[in-house]
Amino acid sequence: MAQEETMEVRVFAPATVANVACGYDVLGFAIEAPGDEVVARHSPEPGLRIVKITGDDGKLPTEVSENTAGVAAQDLLRHLGMLDRGVELEIHKRMPFGSGLGSSAASAVAGAYAVNKLIGEPLTKKQLLPFAMAGESSADGAWHADNVGPCLLGGIVFIRSNQELDMAQLPGPKNLWATVVHPDIEILTKVARDILPREVPLENVTQQVGNLGGLLCGLIQDDYELISRSIHDVIAEPRRQKLIPEFYRAKRDAIAAGALGFSISGAGPSVFALCEGEETARRVGEEVSRVFTEAPIENQVYVSRINPHGVHVVD
Ligand code: HSE
Repeated sequence: MAQEETMEVRVFAPATVANVACGYDVLGFAIEAPGDEVVARHSPEPGLRIVKITGDDGKLPTEVSENTAGVAAQDLLRHLGMLDRGVELEIHKRMPFGSGLGSSAASAVAGAYAVNKLIGEPLTKKQLLPFAMAGESSADGAWHADNVGPCLLGGIVFIRSNQELDMAQLPGPKNLWATVVHPDIEILTKVARDILPREVPLENVTQQVGNLGGLLCGLIQDDYELISRSIHDVIAEPRRQKLIPEFYRAKRDAIAAGALGFSISGAGPSVFALCEGEETARRVGEEVSRVFTEAPIENQVYVSRINPHGVHVVD
């Protein structure tokens, strides 16, 4: 139900791990941090404007039609017949570009969510999906909801159809933790998508479908062993790992440290592990960080439960 309008709203949209190994373009989950913040406020000047961007080293355009948060917010206002509304946006980037952490999806989700809140929440979170999708798609031209879905809704999200935006939130075991390590190199999503083959052998499709089904069942049934047997990607990872120095060493050491499974987060270069328990997740983070540090590549480690909330208002 629509709420009162507010003068200003600040929202936080979390980083996400897309694909989760065997779910290319159809599975993702949100983590607690990092994430982007967007502030939306009313303005006497008609139309949507981006008045401030921080944390982007001057890389992001303030032109609404060229900015993922701007496109998402503008599409929403157009849909609601409110393009003449005076709205200002501030975008505070708190995660790197081309990181595999769903950075452009987070900005797009935050833009749509903040403006929807500002104008009294006429739409539900789920109804914001197409606008956030349009925002993210304006960055790389692709149309996949495996970052936007979990960023908006929280939890682990399985997408049956990206075209129809038909998706379901999955429960996960209570003690499931994620370790995400971002090595300080940039991989453009477009490059990581272009290196994938247009056709894959039927045998690989069968393996991938088996693993995806196994992972979904494992998550629903709290079966860590089934989760562990299922986190394998035989399609994208073998091609994309070439873009990530020391990938297989990091994977070997993560598994040796107790990870249930390890793969590339989204299009990379970030990598992730799923773990049973915080202690294991932290140990895995230390091991993977050590591998990159020895390379030597600077890196950041994020250890988190699956974030059940997704985008939300902050004070
Ligand atoms: N599913 C996407 C990919 C996520 O792997 O290319 C990147 O944003």
